[in-house]
Amino acid sequence: MGTDAGTTGTRHEVSTPEAWDAIAAGYDEFVAPGEAQFAHAGLALAGLAPGDRFLDVAAGTGGLSLPAARLGARVLATDWSPVMQERFRARVREEGLDAEARVMDAHALDVEDDGFDVTGSQFGVMLVPDQPVALREMVRVTRPGGRVLLIAYGSPAEFEALQLFIAALRVVLPGFEGLPEDPPPPEFQVADPDVLRRRLTDAGLRDVSVETTLQERIEVRSGQDLWNWMLGSNPITGAIVGDLTADQQATVRKVLDGMIRDRSGGTGPAVLTAPLNIGVGTA
Ligand SMILES: C[S@@+](CC[C@H](N)C(=O)[O-])C[C@H]1O[C@@H](n2cnc3c(N)ncnc32)[C@H](O)[C@@H]1O
Repeated sequence: MGTDAGTTGTRHEVSTPEAWDAIAAGYDEFVAPGEAQFAHAGLALAGLAPGDRFLDVAAGTGGLSLPAARLGARVLATDWSPVMQERFRARVREEGLDAEARVMDAHALDVEDDGFDVTGSQFGVMLVPDQPVALREMVRVTRPGGRVLLIAYGSPAEFEALQLFIAALRVVLPGFEGLPEDPPPPEFQVADPDVLRRRLTDAGLRDVSVETTLQERIEVRSGQDLWNWMLGSNPITGAIVGDLTADQQATVRKVLDGMIRDRSGGTGPAVLTAPLNIGVGTA
């Protein structure tokens, strides 16, 4: 995000299995609960049916895998973070679902060719450094005629939580540049729906469609809520605020608090939206 941690050179060191392990609890508590609505919409667009074999790539704590398993699919959830997977397994045990979890890198899936009816990734393959390779892996493991689903963020300029956070950071770091634009951070490499359509087609999919009308709705009641969401959602945020003093961090939360109260009018939660691109194609 325009600091050293945000430049392409150091960015990939921030995104490591250990870094995602470290935020797994925050992701599960603050971020994953808001994902159910668009996860269901994505699975419906991909035509997932009870009994289907479903592979989730970069599955985290199960934002897409849990809805798929609750629908009656037979789920394999993969992720490079063992701590994310432990949280997923605990939920699967609690609910008695038909799902297993295995640690693997999205760029080299350790599963057979053509083994799944539907392969999906929500906010996972969206952000990996070699996305074309990861997309080709998703196509390889999906049976001919099966479906591949990718859920990704749309334009960062319309990602309200992110823009409020950048504005609050600028109060304590007036020179803070925000997100680089060329190239964008890996999280926003398919924010343009035409780029997503092209990448899915280049990966070997046909009948590709990209749905752009759905949004993520992030409900927050305070500056602390928004702080928790931002730090839970991606290790990059912690790397950036880790450079601030405790006083500066407190100031950022206070500024965020004022912004949230302005948005909500002091009653109920503020709802911050982020645009989504949901791509589906046939293998
Ligand atoms: C933003 S979270 C999304 C989690 C989940 N799919 C969801 O929608 O809630 C990104 C996930 O990608 C995983 N991840 C990042 N890079 C990866 C890679 N190269 N291989 C496998 N998993 C990766 C992280 O560990 C994290 O669980």
